[in-house]
Amino acid sequence: MRKNIVAGNWKMNLNYSDAQRLMYQLLEYKKNNKTNCEVFIAPPSLYLTMAKDLFENGEIAIFAQDVSEHNSGAFTGEISVDMIHSIGINGSLVSHSERRLYHGETDSNANIKIKNLLNKNLTPIYCNGENLEQRKNGDYLEVVGNQTKTALFTLSAEEIKKVIIAYEPVWAIGTGETATADQAQEVHAFIRDLIASKYGKETADEISILYGGSVKPDNAKEIFSKPDVDGGLIGGAALKIDDFSKIIEGFN
Ligand code: 13P
Repeated sequence: MRKNIVAGNWKMNLNYSDAQRLMYQLLEYKKNNKTNCEVFIAPPSLYLTMAKDLFENGEIAIFAQDVSEHNSGAFTGEISVDMIHSIGINGSLVSHSERRLYHGETDSNANIKIKNLLNKNLTPIYCNGENLEQRKNGDYLEVVGNQTKTALFTLSAEEIKKVIIAYEPVWAIGTGETATADQAQEVHAFIRDLIASKYGKETADEISILYGGSVKPDNAKEIFSKPDVDGGLIGGAALKIDDFSKIIEGFN
């Protein structure tokens, strides 16, 4: 179901005590404030159990940053869908641009991971987006369209409704350079129309599409105000309670 969501991707940041402190601050914030959006965090996998235990009443949904496309076996360093399912995690990011860049992940890998997550009733947050060259060449809609089709278009309508999409233009990630609200809206509307062309408008309207890339307290509200932007996937600004809570309040 389409919802407003602010999700924090902690990436490979924070030691154990800093992670614990931030989780306690988030719990406190959620207890004392009514939010107009759902709040998710994706901490490093080492801290998933701590997060699950702390947010035992589901105040904040907990996501992994990645899962293996294999079910089990000799895949050193990886974690499986079954493992995160067994500790009650809500879902996982899939094909974040840093996984694509540093680990060679493709949309075909994403397609397998998304299906595996859905088979366990977990929520995939599928990330896509063009790089700077593709943006400059004017190829960005074609790139994002092809990514979306490869990763998602083998799913049934019932399945695709359960996927959250995060459009994260690579040139805006961690660079301080944000897509304007209109640039985000253009791509979000394009993704939604593409899904509508295959699955129908009703299905496309059920899907939350988040924007990610240098979302900060001072630009969140404007970006979230666009009709096809259903929230944000936040990197750097998710690591400080003051910034993250102000971004959440972009929905107030
Ligand atoms: P920044 O908000 O640090 O640009 O990161 C965005 C991102 O990659 C979230 O997944």
